[in-house]
This record gives sequence, structure tokens and C-alpha cells, in this order.
Amino acid sequence: MMVPMNTTTSTTSGERAPDPVSVRAPGKLYIAGEYAVVEPGHPAVLIAVDRYVTVSVSPALDTGHITSDQYANLSLEWHRRGDDLVIEPDQTPYDFVLAAIRVVEEAAVALGAPLRMFDLDITSELDDKVGRKFGLGSSAAVTVATVRALIGYYGLDLTSMEQLKIALIATIEVQRSGSGGDVAASMFGGWIAYTAFDREWTRAQRRERPIDDLLSCEWPGLSVRLITPPERLRLVVGWTGSPASTARLVGGVQARKGQSSVHYNRFLTQSGECVSSLIEALEHDDADGIDRAIRRNRDLLRTLGEHSGITIETPKLSALIEIAEASGGAAKTSGAGGGDCGIVLIDREADIDELSAGWEREGIRALDLRVHRPDTTIE
Ligand code: PMV
Ligand code: MG
Repeated sequence: MMVPMNTTTSTTSGERAPDPVSVRAPGKLYIAGEYAVVEPGHPAVLIAVDRYVTVSVSPALDTGHITSDQYANLSLEWHRRGDDLVIEPDQTPYDFVLAAIRVVEEAAVALGAPLRMFDLDITSELDDKVGRKFGLGSSAAVTVATVRALIGYYGLDLTSMEQLKIALIATIEVQRSGSGGDVAASMFGGWIAYTAFDREWTRAQRRERPIDDLLSCEWPGLSVRLITPPERLRLVVGWTGSPASTARLVGGVQARKGQSSVHYNRFLTQSGECVSSLIEALEHDDADGIDRAIRRNRDLLRTLGEHSGITIETPKLSALIEIAEASGGAAKTSGAGGGDCGIVLIDREADIDELSAGWEREGIRALDLRVHRPDTTIE
């Protein structure tokens, strides 16, 4: 299934180096199914948004550099020792990038592609100019952009699902929790229905199987499908101004999920039913069904937060939602909550002047985002 398509040889031997490659990957937002989606096989709906991380890879000689506009003063230098990529310790801001490089290179070696030196440069639109995080999934987008740029640089012929699996392996090597829905949204674009892989299964397989084998086999629980929402549906995104830690919030729920008072299994079942009905309604242009599912998911998440002692819907997110509801939209927290963004689904014809004015009074900023159209097929 996978053979290197590029057969250009090493720069040090004086032969032609690969052409530079530049890839951009979009950020994401959750529409529904948060928290439940971290359990393998449970569904969520996400979108990719039209703000991007761009990764450019170009040939280098003995020393490679990794640079980013996010860390203007931190140019990371690296060398090779055999096939290993060697860097000085303490350069952690590049964790996801380094993990992505290592996993792609492991695949390249398995496919017989010679490893090379390169400079890798990152630019991001996912945080604003002063570095404030909107919660649009910058770690996932930088992982996806790095994976895709290096696959291009090495000329590896991998399906889009194999590319997704490389990016997922890279993220679990850095991060303890997370469903990978953000990675899938960034990889495929558009609106997706996603169910998560089993991290423990993947970790165990990783120790036992060669990477090419792991990339081509079925992963239990993992599924991604593009969905086409109704034309009339408009997405409005509000930003609360306060960044939230997904890892801390998810960790809080995970730590308490065994307590009977959390009713975790009931939450998983109800979230699954709710997300399935949302997907059905999106695909059948059923505006009432969409509104019902979004409102139901808001309630389920609020209840989960109350039962587990975690603030998913902060007072500012409640204000964001209530103002949107008053204008006829269906609204909820997006992602882990605790700050970051809320989303509103509303008819394209509806007047949103009141909504905008209400948000402004509450210090909520409407983000000027659109859905990034799918640019790869899922295969
Ligand atoms: O807050 P975000 O946008 O990173 O989303 C987190 C969504 C969760 O379902 C709570 C966690 C996950 O990894 O899916
Ligand atoms: Mg978030």
C-alpha cells in the first residue's frame, strides 16, 4: 500500500534534495458530543474552521532548524545521530512537531525512504497576534500540518486514513488524554462525524507491531465520516476571552467517572443518542431536529459538569448561549468548555443584530470564522 514516490537522494552526497513543501491545516471546533467522544466508539460532530497553521519544510545540510512565529526567539536546532533526530533538551514548545516528525520518519524508514535534513517553519493563525488562545485546536493543526508536509517532503504514498493514524500516534505520544476529534477535523476539513480509537489498544499495538502494519490495519472504535449540513444553516462563534485547559477539565471528569453520582454510563448513552439524532437532522435538513439536539447536548453537558463538580458552562458561556437563544439560535458550549468558545446554529435568514449587540455588552467577541471546505477524501 505505501511506497515512497520520490526517489531523490541525500543532499550530503551532492545529489538533488527534495523540493520544499508547504502545507496548511485548519483549526477546529466541536459542535456536539464532547466528553463522551473520549470513550472509544462514542460519536461527536466537529467542523474545521478557516484559520490555519502552515508548516513549510525545506532542505537543510548538517543542521536542521525548527522555527515558529509563536516562539519568535526560539529556533530549535537539531542534528542526526544515525537515524535519530537529536536535539538539546528543554525545548518542549515543539513537542507535537517533534513527535509528528519522529512518527513520519519511522514510517519513511519502514517504507525504505532515505531520511534527510530539513528546516521546518511554522506560522499560525489559530492564536491572535498577542498570543491569546481561542481554543481552535492549535496542537492538532500543527501536528496535522507537520505530518502532511513531511509526508510530501519524503514523497510517501499514504492514504488519508493512514495519515490520520500517523497524526493520532504522534498526539498520544505527547498528550495523555484526548479523543483525537480535533486531529480528524484538521485532517479532513468540513463537517465530520467522528468516533474515537482506543488509546490503550493503540499504545499496546505500538509496542508489538511495525508501524506500516499498524497504519494499514483497522483501529477499533475509530471512524470518520464527512457530513453535509443544510445550506441554510449558519454557524456563529462567540469567544469568552478566557482560555481553558482541556486536559484539566477532561482529567477532572475522568477522575470521577467511576462515582455512581456522576451517572457516567447514562451520560454516554444519552450523548450518543443525541449526537446520532443531530447527524440525522443535519443530513435531512431538519431544522427543528438540529435545534433540539443542540439544546439537549447543552443540557447533558451541563448536568455532567454539575454531577462531576467541573464547571463546563461558565457564567459567561451561559450568557453567550442565552443571548443566542433569545435571537432564535440553538447554542451550546464548544469543546471542553470552562471558557474558550460557544457555538450557535441559526437560520441564515435570521437577524443577528440583537445577538451581536448582546454579546458585545457581555464582552463576548464574535469570531469571524467560516467552515473550511473538505480538501481530502476519507479513504
Ligand atoms: O476544548 P476543546 O475544543 O479542546 O475540546 C475538547 C473536547 C473533549 O471531548 C472534552 C475532549 C476531547 O479530546 O475530545
Ligand atoms: Mg476548549
